[in-house]
Amino acid sequence: MKILGIESSADEQAAAVVQDGRRLLSSVVASSLDLHVAFGGIVPEIAARSHIEVIIPTINEALHSASPTSHSDDLWSSIDAIAVTYGPGLLGSLLIGVLTARTLAIAKNKPLYAVNHVEAHAYASFINETGSNFKLPKTAPKFPILALIVSGGHTQLVLFKDHFDYRVLGRTLDDAVGEAFDKVAKMLGLPYPGGPSIAEAAKSGDHNAFKFPRARTENAYDFSFSGLKTAVFRAAQIQSGHSYDFPSTKLPRALNEAQKADIAASFQQTAIEDLISHLKAAEEEFQPKSLVIAGGVATNQLLRDEAKKVLGTEVIIPPIQLCTDNAAMVAALGYYQASHKRRPADPYSLEPDPSLKM
Ligand code: KG4
Ligand code: ZN
Repeated sequence: MKILGIESSADEQAAAVVQDGRRLLSSVVASSLDLHVAFGGIVPEIAARSHIEVIIPTINEALHSASPTSHSDDLWSSIDAIAVTYGPGLLGSLLIGVLTARTLAIAKNKPLYAVNHVEAHAYASFINETGSNFKLPKTAPKFPILALIVSGGHTQLVLFKDHFDYRVLGRTLDDAVGEAFDKVAKMLGLPYPGGPSIAEAAKSGDHNAFKFPRARTENAYDFSFSGLKTAVFRAAQIQSGHSYDFPSTKLPRALNEAQKADIAASFQQTAIEDLISHLKAAEEEFQPKSLVIAGGVATNQLLRDEAKKVLGTEVIIPPIQLCTDNAAMVAALGYYQASHKRRPADPYSLEPDPSLKM
């Protein structure tokens, strides 16, 4: 069964074709990231406008590369269904993806599956065959699966007993971990997106230079990063030689490169240790057969290394291209919906849900 996945919940417009939920036939991602860098974050209107421009070419390219020998009129014949992200995300961006998918489902007469973006991040881990040069995990995760989904918008720990039978053990009470990376980077004057910038700056820093606090939450599996962010801000103010009323906008010029590197390294260490300790506690309590780490923050090398070092269970982390936003994960989850006889969405009425929860 071949599924066309469509993803447009934030700044990435993506389309992909995946066979049987595991074989990646094509994955195309057009990012409008460059247009947002100058603003230090995603500008929703710019993102939505770029989706309109690139969505059809992206879908066409995904269909073409999935069956390069097929004639253009034939590209749709081998597609069994369409899966589209309908939330959570930016309303304007989601609208473009959902309306396009609805139109195609009607015009091409294909079943339409509505996919939760956060859940889809975990399903990237099921993709383990490809003709491309992606370094895919060799095995598929086995149930029960403990999944840590960490991105710019989400941080949650989920226990999957089976497909569509899951329990959210904890989620962030305030900032997502990727958002904390983005905000700390902004404070230090490092470019957006903050995750890769912090990781790069941290290479030349001392991760023991500062001792930042880790949040304690009532439910031990919940997360909280706003206290850490504030502690980093206070430390940066002191390092700059000013007091607590020094504005964050002036910090980048008041700190030298060595100070920035030490702050970045200490922040990264604390944030990653926090994620790992949540995983470790849940691993001990629930004894999963596989651990999955997915989402944009899963590209963090320290997180990858620590997870493999500290956790006893087999850890499956998708390759970088399938950790950041992509449509292959959407197609993979769409496949499991179809093969588990989940009800397809109504192409005449499916609406995006920007605050959709798992
Ligand atoms: O999954 P994703 O591409 O989009 C969302 O659904 O949010 O995740 C993007 C997030 C951003 O916050 C970015 O700063 C973070 O992932 N990120 C990282 C790294 N690379 C990207 N965070 C930490 N370390 C990285 N190497
Ligand atoms: Zn995402």
